[in-house]
Amino acid sequence: MKLVVRNDDRAVAALTARLIADLLKARPDCVLGLATGRTMERVYDALVEISRAEALDFSGCRTFNLDEYIGLPPGSAHSYRTYMNDRLFSRINIPIGNTMLPDGSATDLAAEAARYEDAIRRAGGIDLQLVGIGETGHIGFNEPLSPFTSRTRDITLAPGTRRQNAALFDDDIDAVPRRALTMGVGTILEARRVVLVATGSAKADILAQAVEGPVTPMVSATALHFHPDSLAIIDEDAARHLKHRDYYDSVFATDPEFAPFRA
Ligand code: GLP
Repeated sequence: MKLVVRNDDRAVAALTARLIADLLKARPDCVLGLATGRTMERVYDALVEISRAEALDFSGCRTFNLDEYIGLPPGSAHSYRTYMNDRLFSRINIPIGNTMLPDGSATDLAAEAARYEDAIRRAGGIDLQLVGIGETGHIGFNEPLSPFTSRTRDITLAPGTRRQNAALFDDDIDAVPRRALTMGVGTILEARRVVLVATGSAKADILAQAVEGPVTPMVSATALHFHPDSLAIIDEDAARHLKHRDYYDSVFATDPEFAPFRA
């Protein structure tokens, strides 16, 4: 895992969006793995901004989202499908048919999970997977005890996750679904690159566990240490509890891979 610390959430969003934009320019038919949550709102705003300024062409790109709630009524304002349509898809020139999320309203959830895995495979796999981190350490909705080999499946959300996400349900925790469909940890690890984005002091504790271990299925994000190309982009607030900050700073100052970020 490599780590970049930026001053604030705007700078984190700008850098993350830049990585996506550069990938899209190099590979107009790239496959993007996308994520939801408040952290990503800024990332998508920054990506839309670049898209307008540089006339990015998303028409050949396909996207797969990490997860979706189970049991929300079709068209629900709280679904991740609505979030993605509003925050990103309606603001760029991606054909909506190229945008995939697991279908949380499927009657046969196991079949839907298998179909989703198959669709990712048939698209040639994911080039860059964005992930946020929940306060339980989840990536996607892979709550504690998710096997590192897990695939797309239905899962029960941790009470802490439901509390955290209640903010997106008008602070009504009872409105937050209890279950979700999520890519598995193993699914995420197959993406060619994984970019973890975390901002704000509420993430400082769990981020330190994710980055500095111990590696454990109690904190799904620690599985990213098994990935050959994972990058965490975080802000100063989220970096607050890291113990080896001096080392990360010296990597940032000297690693040739970071040269473009230093400029
Ligand atoms: C939800 C998503 C996760 C995301 C998390 C972070 O739980 N399923 O994929 O990492 O939100 O949310 P926020 O960015 O709002 O802190």
